[in-house]
Amino acid sequence: MTRPVAEREALQQPEWPDPAAVAGVRETLAGRSGLVSEAECAVLTGQLDRAARGEAVVLQAGDCAERFTEAAPEPIAARLAQLTGLAARLRRDSGLPVVPIGRIAGQYAKPRSSAWERLPDGTVLPAYRGDLVNRPEADPVSRTPDPHRMLTGYDCAAFVLRQLRRRSGTDPAGVPVFASHEALLCDYETALERPGTSGRYASSGHLVWIGDRTRASDGWHVRWAAELSNPVGVKIGPSITAAEAVRLSRVLNPQGRPGKVSFIVRLGSQRIRRILPELALAIRRHGAPVLWLCDPMHGNTYRLRSGTKTRLVEAIHDEATAFVRILAAHRLHPAGLHLEVTPEDVTECIAAPVDTPVSPARVAQPRYTSACDPRLNREQADELVAHFAGLTRRR
Ligand code: PEP
Ligand code: CO
Repeated sequence: MTRPVAEREALQQPEWPDPAAVAGVRETLAGRSGLVSEAECAVLTGQLDRAARGEAVVLQAGDCAERFTEAAPEPIAARLAQLTGLAARLRRDSGLPVVPIGRIAGQYAKPRSSAWERLPDGTVLPAYRGDLVNRPEADPVSRTPDPHRMLTGYDCAAFVLRQLRRRSGTDPAGVPVFASHEALLCDYETALERPGTSGRYASSGHLVWIGDRTRASDGWHVRWAAELSNPVGVKIGPSITAAEAVRLSRVLNPQGRPGKVSFIVRLGSQRIRRILPELALAIRRHGAPVLWLCDPMHGNTYRLRSGTKTRLVEAIHDEATAFVRILAAHRLHPAGLHLEVTPEDVTECIAAPVDTPVSPARVAQPRYTSACDPRLNREQADELVAHFAGLTRRR
């Protein structure tokens, strides 16, 4: 039997100033219709099952942190056009059907390495935890967690899903775009659980994933996700051990269903070479089946001297290369990519290290608009997808 883990023990939750207001919001959300249907989630599980067997490729991509202000026709149309364009390219170059999944319609909650942020003038504020919780502006009112934002988040996600369904209906290839996000905020996620034909499912999105900071196999998030019928992702960062990876695969997928659990590997371009072979071996020998996705972004983040976060495009390509080669060497299928991308003309990830006194960083406002991590722009995303397709085709 699994030990029940109380919600109050869950990591990365905000301190709501008014618990009674939170209860009211949960009740309201629980009375609303589910954002996605169980049947749609089952279609995605089926497609992931094919990808796990090497008969399709997954492309999961979108913003690091979606903003409520971008739940509007133009920004959403641009994001869907980017995702379907990348999927079409991957399909053409790899010769395999593609499963497009947005980091969209709910990617509103962010885990933080520190609960507090110190401003240059010494002021300390609660960290921005995503639009579902508070606002990024650096003042105490904006940063105070406000549970009513969960209702706005629901409305924004519902709007985005309507756009997404409309767009899917007009796609000549008939490829639906699925919605995914990090299931981080307990109050929001549990209020949107719905009964399904076989147990419960998360109606907040088709696929939900557990972040690297909340993926302990005995933690609240994993225990919660294990009970869902949705496909579930889990981020695999460098603090993982082979034994913990095996435990995670089993806890999340006790029946060993292919396509049910995706390991979203984000080890960094150097550490992947040491860690992924151990994980691949251990999962093959002792684990439940997992679908292997490559997130070449989150293990390659660093800060410029200005404090701005960036990522080197070269490191991102390197990690993707290592991912494909290592899995292929272990006779496992590299099933796809998990990326942070934007159709906006930004320079958030950079081509070469430039943060020296003679060559100052070219990561500059206003071409850095991410509310959280640095994203690939249109051209950088195209190149990476082509690179990945080339790697998988040659195998
Ligand atoms: C993210 O995907 O934005 C994220 C926070 O990832 P991770 O949990 O891998 O750090
Ligand atoms: Co991110």
